[in-house]
Amino acid sequence: MSATPLLQLRDLRVAYGAIEAVKGISLELAHGELVSLIGANGAGKTTTLNAIAGTLGTAGGELLYEGKGIEKLPAHLRLRRGLALVPEGRGIFTRLTVEENLRMGAYCRRDHDAVEADLERVFTMLPRVKERLQQVAGTLSGGEQQMVAIGRALLSRPRLLLLDEPSMGLAPLVVEKIFEVIRSVAAEGVTILLVEQNANLALEFSQRAYVMESGRITLAGSGAELLADPKVRAAYLGE
Ligand SMILES: Nc1ncnc2c1ncn2[C@@H]1O[C@H](COP(=O)(O)OP(=O)(O)O)[C@@H](O)[C@H]1O
Ligand SMILES: [Mg+2]
Repeated sequence: MSATPLLQLRDLRVAYGAIEAVKGISLELAHGELVSLIGANGAGKTTTLNAIAGTLGTAGGELLYEGKGIEKLPAHLRLRRGLALVPEGRGIFTRLTVEENLRMGAYCRRDHDAVEADLERVFTMLPRVKERLQQVAGTLSGGEQQMVAIGRALLSRPRLLLLDEPSMGLAPLVVEKIFEVIRSVAAEGVTILLVEQNANLALEFSQRAYVMESGRITLAGSGAELLADPKVRAAYLGE
């Protein structure tokens, strides 16, 4: 594990016009970590992920990737450096086929042979996706669409995968499958920042977690510590 964190946010601020949605948060991810960010609806989780991916600009603070400031780097260049987002709601191109969706993930790559090899890897990880390559993506179930969204992100060869509410709207059994996939991605050494409203699931699943409330990080610790924390239990685990 290298000493420099893969990702570091220092007092990061993100605003929509005059409204500050992220009010100075600091967090870091070491290489290979699986960390989650939990919090109620409207806490600023999606805003944070979009700022990291570069689809939203920052209003202050620092955003360091491999120790270098990337605040001014456009989203497509962050993707090329290995920073991939699976957005809230999945962001599938509903009229394109599954295969076309997957290949979109590799649009910024020139190493075409390696892309084909990565496609095969994704097929091994997501056999259901392979069965449906020529199906129009809009006709897939929610769980299948989520798998395509993850597969598409993997086609960019991410070093840091940002996942925004992958369990949203899915039945428990399907959620389990999605989380198995996330676990196998993590096992390949990809660093993961997982945003979840399902706090129980996220805390059991990740090594460390941050709790976000109204644009600020209010608690941080290991998954087990936060699961045992009375404040977390009261606010997020329905006790
Ligand atoms: N496009 C937008 N314009 C203005 N305010 C927004 C926009 N998107 C989100 N917000 C506001 O920013 C805050 C954080 O939202 P969001 O990051 O989506 O929270 P979460 O993902 O934790 O549910 C909320 O108060 C939300 O209303
Ligand atoms: Mg959100």
